[in-house]
Amino acid sequence: MNEEFKNKYQEKYSAAKQKGVKFWPDIIYKDLVISFGLFILLVGLAAFFGVAQEPKADPNDANYIPRPEWYFLFLFEFLKFIPGQIEWVGTALIPGVAILILFLLPFIDKNPFRHWKKRKTGITVMGLTVIGIVGLTVRAVVTTPEQEEVSLAGSIAEQVIQGQDLYSIWCADCHQPDGEGGEVVGVEGLEGVILKPINSQDEMWTRTDETLFNIIDQGQQDLGMPPYGLGYGGELQRSEIEAIVTFMRYTWDERAEIPQEAIIGIPSLAEGEVPSYEVHISAVSKRYCVSCHRPGKENNEYLMQTYEEILTSGDNADKNVIAGNLESFIITTLYRESVYDASGNEIIGPMPPSKELKAEYIDMFERWVLAGMPETAAEAAALSESAGEEAAPEAEATPEP
Ligand code: HEC
Ligand code: HEC
Repeated sequence: MNEEFKNKYQEKYSAAKQKGVKFWPDIIYKDLVISFGLFILLVGLAAFFGVAQEPKADPNDANYIPRPEWYFLFLFEFLKFIPGQIEWVGTALIPGVAILILFLLPFIDKNPFRHWKKRKTGITVMGLTVIGIVGLTVRAVVTTPEQEEVSLAGSIAEQVIQGQDLYSIWCADCHQPDGEGGEVVGVEGLEGVILKPINSQDEMWTRTDETLFNIIDQGQQDLGMPPYGLGYGGELQRSEIEAIVTFMRYTWDERAEIPQEAIIGIPSLAEGEVPSYEVHISAVSKRYCVSCHRPGKENNEYLMQTYEEILTSGDNADKNVIAGNLESFIITTLYRESVYDASGNEIIGPMPPSKELKAEYIDMFERWVLAGMPETAAEAAALSESAGEEAAPEAEATPEP
């Protein structure tokens, strides 16, 4: 810059100084007015618009996609470019240096001019920084995957049905299919322990839904009840535990009025009617067999979760289900006959191990095997004695006791 210009500037500057703008109170006053205006604006926004809230934090929700607030998104996005081992460069070093430069700016940039034409370097650096921040923020927003809808529990009916399935899989081993309790059979560590019923008025009237939820979530480890919540090392989501509680409440508490469509009956059979896998056998096995006959359980590799599995799996697959043959193991075990190997060792005990199945359901398995194990309701109907007759009486859904 030339001498002349410098002098002129100095003159202007001292003139302004003469006139005097003082930090106190002049500048402070301006600051106060502006901050007060911003404060009123914030209060107004908070009062009339509020903050968009996400659902309540749920430590069990494994699908939640955590993201920082929008004004930190650029930093978050920036971090993605830095490999994990040198994360500290992105989290500490670079932001630290940037802030340090801001502090040192008055010493680095001694350019006395204010007009933008005279401040090309400064403006370029700042401009690039702003473009970088905006660009990174946009990129972060665009690349954030859609947050999966939190599976809001459906209707009570749906929850009861889901809860019943989960109960059969996770709880029936110890508490029995209907929560009746009694002696535990075939569960390591609790063999022979007698459990109190959890389907009783005693239980239902003294435990709130919240208490039941906590018992399932956290377990009662000193008594042998394992925890099921993800937060406690279990495998069930919150919504799943809630479904189990809803199932228990609406099935075992006579004060809870269950919606009609949620009554999961196993349809009873009419005279001469042939049961199908689809309608009858799947329902009975889901309730009384699948808790053990699924992967990861002791069961001679006999799985019962699908039609194919029932017919073809198991160490004794060739003898478990034989069309038309009541010597099939799936029938004899229900009559509590054990199966022995050549040297007289029991290889299959009575099924289900703890308690005899209701005669009505044993009859169902028998008729199914005798008819050749029809899969669909249509196949079964074609095999029924009443087939072909007009109005075959609709089987009525009977609620479980
Ligand atoms: C490994 C066996 C086992 C499994 C599986 C199990 N529990 Fe338990 N549960 C127990 C034991 C043991 C107790 C405590 C003894 C008792 O109260 O009779 C118990 C107690 C309970 C209680 C009564 C607590 C009270 O004080 O009122 C409830 C309710 C309960 N369990 C529900 C469930 C549910 C629901 C599941 C499935 C998600 C489940 N349990 C799975 C063993 C088990
Ligand atoms: C409490 C767990 C449990 C329940 C419930 C249960 N089972 Fe089993 N099941 C077993 C075990 C364990 C075996 C392995 C043989 C043994 O130890 O007796 C087995 C084996 C069998 C086998 C022989 C499989 C093979 O290939 O050797 C048949 C058939 C069978 N179960 C049928 C049923 C039926 C039908 C039901 C439901 C009505 C049922 N089970 C319910 C535990 C269970």
